[in-house]
Amino acid sequence: MSALREKVAWQNLQAQAQALATQHLRDLFAADPGRAERYRVEAAGWRLDYARHRMTDQTLEQLFALARECGLEARRDAMFAGEKVNTTEQRAALHIALRTPPRRVIKVDGANVVPEVHAVLKRMRQFAGAIREGSWLGFSGRPIRNIVNIGIGGSDLGPVMAYEALRHYTDRKLTMRFVSNVDYTDFAEAVHDLRPDETLFIVASKTFTTLETMTNAHSARDWLMQAAGGDKGAVAKHFVALSTNAKAVTEFGISTEQMYGFWDWVGGRYSMDSSIGLSSMIAIGPDAFADLLAGFHVMDEHFRTAPLERNLPAIMGLLGVWYTDFFGAETQAVLPYEQYLKRFPAYLQQLTMESNGKHVTIDGAQVDYATGPVYWGEPGTNGQHSFYQLIHQGTRLIPCDFVGFGQSLNPSGRHHDLLLANMIAQAEALAMGKTLEQVLAEGIDASLAPHRVFEGNRPSSLLLADRLTPHALGALIALYEHIVFTQAAIWDINPFDQWGVELGKQLALRVVDEIESPRKPLNHDSATNAAIAWYRKARRK
Ligand code: F6P
Repeated sequence: MSALREKVAWQNLQAQAQALATQHLRDLFAADPGRAERYRVEAAGWRLDYARHRMTDQTLEQLFALARECGLEARRDAMFAGEKVNTTEQRAALHIALRTPPRRVIKVDGANVVPEVHAVLKRMRQFAGAIREGSWLGFSGRPIRNIVNIGIGGSDLGPVMAYEALRHYTDRKLTMRFVSNVDYTDFAEAVHDLRPDETLFIVASKTFTTLETMTNAHSARDWLMQAAGGDKGAVAKHFVALSTNAKAVTEFGISTEQMYGFWDWVGGRYSMDSSIGLSSMIAIGPDAFADLLAGFHVMDEHFRTAPLERNLPAIMGLLGVWYTDFFGAETQAVLPYEQYLKRFPAYLQQLTMESNGKHVTIDGAQVDYATGPVYWGEPGTNGQHSFYQLIHQGTRLIPCDFVGFGQSLNPSGRHHDLLLANMIAQAEALAMGKTLEQVLAEGIDASLAPHRVFEGNRPSSLLLADRLTPHALGALIALYEHIVFTQAAIWDINPFDQWGVELGKQLALRVVDEIESPRKPLNHDSATNAAIAWYRKARRK
């Protein structure tokens, strides 16, 4: 049995889960009038209502005890102190340093990294300013108006999500596009209506070796060269790089003056607030980008200093462990009632699943408990008309995070009231359900009544803030980063590596070689051989 299962709090939680299995949220609310008041916590402009969870004070006590038995606080302090908590890569995981005010000191290998962070931010600020005021000119002397970010994974999802989330604050004179897929269609559609002499490519890649990004970056350079009549000098006016790999950037043909660096202690999925955020800074402006960073920092400080009992990321992280390991929940839905957050669930998928999709502990032992759940979601109210049916009446337990704001950025008539009414009603319906007696009392025929019953007892959190501002977004992202960290600490896994993506990458290189050299013998399993053989023919038709 794993060390985690042997912990006292874990065993107490097993007993708690059994006791709660027969209790309905209806009963918990009826027996405890102070529930909503007690199960509420605020931080960094966000309010978490967590009364609709299948728990009592005793459950929470044991969850906090588990966190302490697992050393959550010490692990957190080690991360904030710049220790090499990413043990499989012998690196610090210091995304919190990216949003630390200049006067703070955070050391990696004895050197303070905060001044470097602010030096890069200063250069980004100057460049973003030049683009925004139209003084950065393309090869024909026309100002840059189009920005195309080329990147994938953490070098794409953060920038896209932030652009969509903060669109209200963006400079509408600029056209922002994002290219990630190695499918050329992505590039072709992104540039089809753009003038090359008004287009800036931001090549965003921590390693500057990622197949998709480098393939797209070369296509972008060819596209530009064709328009610029092969003038290599045009590259300096139309390309910048965001990377940790100066050598590869120079080899590509981008000078280090046009490169905005970051560091190996920033994981790809934790990098949208590093130079990878250059497209965001250009879109919303340097001051709004500073507000975004400030929002991250306020949540960081809350996570670092608040007692676990009042600690928003710790509470949400522990509730996730509760459902994953004691109720068999396999997924976690994130449902923003805010159209601007439409890419937030996709962003969270990389953040959470690349981090906590792990099957061995930090010491390499196979776990005997479930780790990271599948994250998914869509904005409300759209999801209500597609997949909510399964959440309400299906056979799976799906904890939901509802995210909503007090005020719309586009207020008009009753729209926002209707939006928020739906969010609140969904949380109520999931928790309270509708009994057979209630259905029959409505005069529904007994034969149809079972179809109309809602079991309820489905848990959810409400995450609420006044308005979707850059500050609120920063705090929200940091909240989920620290939820992931909390869960990894309990599960004793490393949330900062991603070896699981490597095998597919290696095999793809072998397969592409076999596709392009059709005489090469195929020595895979028979299904892989058949697929390659099919494509060798299909690509020639
Ligand atoms: O393949 C996974 C991954 O390494 C992610 O972790 C990362 O965000 C993405 O690829 C892109 O990597 P890079 O920024 O080095 O191009």
